[in-house]
Amino acid sequence: MWAEISPPGGVICPPASNVSARRREWENHEMSSLPTIAVTGSTGGLGRLVAANLAEANIQQRLLVRNPAKAPEFPGSVVLPFSYLDRAASTEALDGVDVLFMVSGSESVDRVDQHRAFIDSAKTAGVGHIVYTSFFGASPTSTFTLGRDHDATERYIESTGIPHTFLRDNLYIDFMDALVGEDGVIRGPAADGRVAAVAREDIARVASTVIQDPGSHRDATYLLTGSEALTLDEVAKILSAHRPTPVTFHNETLDEAYASRARYGAPDWQNDAWVSTYTSIAAGEMAELSDDVKRITGRTPITLDQFLSQ
Ligand SMILES: NC(=O)c1ccc[n+]([C@@H]2O[C@H](COP(=O)([O-])OP(=O)(O)OC[C@H]3O[C@@H](n4cnc5c(N)ncnc54)[C@H](OP(=O)(O)O)[C@@H]3O)[C@@H](O)[C@H]2O)c1
Repeated sequence: MWAEISPPGGVICPPASNVSARRREWENHEMSSLPTIAVTGSTGGLGRLVAANLAEANIQQRLLVRNPAKAPEFPGSVVLPFSYLDRAASTEALDGVDVLFMVSGSESVDRVDQHRAFIDSAKTAGVGHIVYTSFFGASPTSTFTLGRDHDATERYIESTGIPHTFLRDNLYIDFMDALVGEDGVIRGPAADGRVAAVAREDIARVASTVIQDPGSHRDATYLLTGSEALTLDEVAKILSAHRPTPVTFHNETLDEAYASRARYGAPDWQNDAWVSTYTSIAAGEMAELSDDVKRITGRTPITLDQFLSQ
């Protein structure tokens, strides 16, 4: 069970941000003194790494977060409450922003609507460039069903005319270990397809490079992969070397895949997303290797074995 996905019962978008809390935040900041780089998702895995990379490069940033209590602290960073659906808070928080790093929101049935609302706010606020974390092979016909959401979001950003950079991330290496069930088995209809999984730390280095020089990456689409494309059998062997007990891969049929996930009681779109994570691998849609990480960051992307050894 897995997709690009929070587990059942995971993060759910809370109601629109509290207006008085927002006002209090804003009263402490002169508009003109706010940093002109905005980062979303810094309370999550990828956005936090992007924000940390920018801070390391002495870049001041606005951290747009749903829950300020969870926001990381960096020198010169300013925390602003918002959520993708909260047009007023988003437009205020984005006023004067030159470069916006936009992570895709948590999976939900209305994620594309949330993205569109936020992109509308960016347009209204006059944002100069959007760096969006998309998904590998995003297209209206992606086997991985959520790849279609990413395609819809990319097309919507394009329709606004805002200069942009799309980072099409392969599956995260960071989550390969989470594919393993309690019984030590990775289950899914991936057959002998290959996945060119990439570490969030490599994606974050690409993002922070692009954010610091957006003009050089204007309207570009990058394919972010690791340096090897592995079958899930090979993934299982590598994971086994880092665990006390061996991991194996079971190539489920489609029927088995839906049946083994039924106990989570998830809605159909979620089950389709989970299962199609594997069928997209079987279809060869996650296998292509790209040198974009190396070209942009100058560093060879880390392997699963290196990630697990860290
Ligand atoms: N390529 C892959 O394999 C893969 C795997 C997992 C996820 N993803 C996608 O990549 C994104 C980033 O990955 P991650 O590992 O950093 O995920 P993560 O740890 O779940 O973090 C997601 C971040 O986005 C914020 N967020 C979610 N929905 C939002 C909304 N409606 N409005 C404002 N902020 C919102 C979350 O805020 P809160 O802290 O308030 O929840 C959190 O900061 C995910 O959101 C997901 O779309 C891709």
